[in-house]
Amino acid sequence: MSATQIERRGPVAVVRLVNPPVNGLGSAVRSGLEAAFNQLLPDDSVAGIVITGDGRMFSAGADIREFGRTPPPGVPNLPELIDWLEESSKPVVAAIHGVAAGGGLELALGCHYRIVAPKTRLGLPEVTLGILPGAGGTQRLPRVAGVEAALELIVSGRLVSEREALKLGIVDQVAEGDVVAAAVAKAAELAATGTPPRRSSERDEGLAAARADPGLFDRFRRSMAKRARGMNAPYACVRCIEAAVRLPFAEGRHFEHQEFRKLVGAVEAQAMRHAFFAEREVAKIPDLPDSTPTRPIAAAGVIGCGTMGGGIAMVFANAGIPVTVVESDAGALDAGLEKIRANYQATVDKGRLAQDAMDERMALIAGATGFDAVADADIVVEAVFEEMPVKKQVFGILDRTCRPGAILATNTSTLDVDEIAAATGRPESVIGTHFFSPANVMRLLEVVRGAKSSPETVATAMALSKTLGKIGVLVGVCDGFVGNRMLHQYLREAAFLVEEGALPQDVDRVIYDFGFPMGPFAMSDLAGNDIGWRIRKAKMAERPAGTGSGDERYSGTISDRLCERGRFGQKTGAGWYRYEDGRTPLPDPEVESLIVETSKALGIGQRPVSDREILERCLYPLVNEGARILDEGIALRSSDIDMVWIHGYGFPRYRGGPMFWADTVGLDAIAAAMRGFQAVHGDWMAPAPLLEKLVAEGKGFKDL
Ligand code: CAA
Ligand code: NAI
Repeated sequence: MSATQIERRGPVAVVRLVNPPVNGLGSAVRSGLEAAFNQLLPDDSVAGIVITGDGRMFSAGADIREFGRTPPPGVPNLPELIDWLEESSKPVVAAIHGVAAGGGLELALGCHYRIVAPKTRLGLPEVTLGILPGAGGTQRLPRVAGVEAALELIVSGRLVSEREALKLGIVDQVAEGDVVAAAVAKAAELAATGTPPRRSSERDEGLAAARADPGLFDRFRRSMAKRARGMNAPYACVRCIEAAVRLPFAEGRHFEHQEFRKLVGAVEAQAMRHAFFAEREVAKIPDLPDSTPTRPIAAAGVIGCGTMGGGIAMVFANAGIPVTVVESDAGALDAGLEKIRANYQATVDKGRLAQDAMDERMALIAGATGFDAVADADIVVEAVFEEMPVKKQVFGILDRTCRPGAILATNTSTLDVDEIAAATGRPESVIGTHFFSPANVMRLLEVVRGAKSSPETVATAMALSKTLGKIGVLVGVCDGFVGNRMLHQYLREAAFLVEEGALPQDVDRVIYDFGFPMGPFAMSDLAGNDIGWRIRKAKMAERPAGTGSGDERYSGTISDRLCERGRFGQKTGAGWYRYEDGRTPLPDPEVESLIVETSKALGIGQRPVSDREILERCLYPLVNEGARILDEGIALRSSDIDMVWIHGYGFPRYRGGPMFWADTVGLDAIAAAMRGFQAVHGDWMAPAPLLEKLVAEGKGFKDL
């Protein structure tokens, strides 16, 4: 089937883009559009032209898979094609439904008139792919919607509703009925009245305000500094919009093209594209074909309404799924529900949620103190204390109470899902759903497949993660699953670095500058140092006397000392840092002397530690553990590990995740550094066999 189809409706020709699933503007579509216009423009029986999309949407823009490939000879590039279509002396009207994103919206902006159906999302999300709208978007949008709106939309990459697009002047009309029919009528009317084409490139009413306000761009650059940290694309977008104000259209388009070319091949864009495709790949499970049945989830239960249970209940309510939370007594239940209410209220107070939306969500959350209340639920997520006997008891009760076919999920972060499943007579229906804190905010969900979890249970949990707006990553059972198992390596080395002479603020600065939202010590102060302290004490208590922590070298000494002094972190006003305003970490001389004393007592000589060593010691062992995880089949793909780290731990997306980043560093360099660390520190730093194998074969994680 051709990638474009032409249909006549009286004097108007409708050109339909046909490239499922998203009408990406690949070579075939571009050639098709060119051929269609070559046929229609000289045809005197055609008075006007409508461009529309077949299927679900108008167009999601350039075909991202074609980036970096040379198009076949004779195929027009998108920017030039759009310029040429815009030149048409016959009226060209875009009939937009579903989505018009990136090049899709740029194509629509090249049309003379835009009519949009309800429930359509429009925007220029290129920046989220590490590039900029390179088909005239940075030049036409400010002319049509004004510079301030264009800056906000292009730099955030946000898609707007058709209503907002109308308000901003991006579209001309919202058609309640058949959008193509409305566009045909408009094209016929424009032709009949002889209205001259209204070309976006010739408009300049949107530029006037910026021309009168020379400080606008510098102010905007300051306001975006935090969210654009470490990236090039957002700044290139601003430069292009600045060029739209400063230069005539053709020169501005040329400038945009030059900036686009600089970005598209760079590591930042490769990493962001990798993340885009990895987010979709993660849902595909090789041994679970699309035909695997899933169970409908119309009602949920959550056991435990503490930090995680409360957040998980909100996740269900946010997705419109009624949920019942069960607590051990009325007091804990009231406290848990009150916490949920306060959480929503804070979002309402910040203007990010409407009061009636909050009321609707609260109405979906019911509370109970008996398990009977979840007897009819389609899924029950357990989030009680992290103790195996408690978990087993809860699963025993759930097994007796819940209806056959219900999925029984555990939010455990460290315990063996198979042992928990064995407490029931239906281990095939048991699975781990490891949410990250705060559950209602973090997008990662590790779906932990037990040895006996049935395909249907796994497929349902994976489908549910999408319904809940999460990135569900399927992982296997092991201590810490994927994320926390790798985190352990990173935190351990961070602690050792401090024992060896780095200060917490040095480590945090290096990690922050790498692109994480915060370093390990600031993170620990935020989460509470006492959590790790309690876990370490429990682990020690489990071991026979005198056998130590299990690690070759114990990494918790300084943190233990801090906790003994009540320095639990932000909540006690002091931890690795001191806090005057409750949240800004300030280096503390008391901590510095404690570090020196403790290291001395441990017999560790303090030495200067370079920034490079900090980065490599923290991140290479993390990658190395990722390689072990892959080798053991705990994660399905290296890109799945990248998803865990981007969506669960704030690994900078523009670096693609730890495994993608490792490939950009070079696995040979990482393996060599690990061998060096092993020689100095111990065998826990030995390169993983898979890492060595890939180095020997000259391959990267991307080749697996
Ligand atoms: N190019 C190639 N493939 C694309 C694509 C694109 N622009 N957009 C989506 N796809 C693919 C997805 O990878 C997915 O493929 P699989 O089924 O094989 O996994 C399939 O289309 C369906 O996509 P989604 O699962 O994302 O569908 P959705 O309905 O959830 O979302 C969407 C639809 C909002 C359009 C979303 O796909 C999206 O955001 N797409 C990207 C939009 C974008 O960034 N466009 C800018 C492109 S760059 C550009 O246009 C450059 C320029 O200026 C010249
Ligand atoms: P929490 O201590 O805040 O909440 C646990 C809640 O469970 C308490 O409110 C308690 O009253 C309730 N509870 C205990 N036994 C119960 C029973 N028999 N019936 C009903 N309710 C009962 O603990 P948190 O932090 O929410 O952790 C819950 C689970 O989530 C644990 O398995 C933990 O490992 C896991 N987890 C925790 C994360 C975190 O950051 N806090 C992150 C990811 C997982």
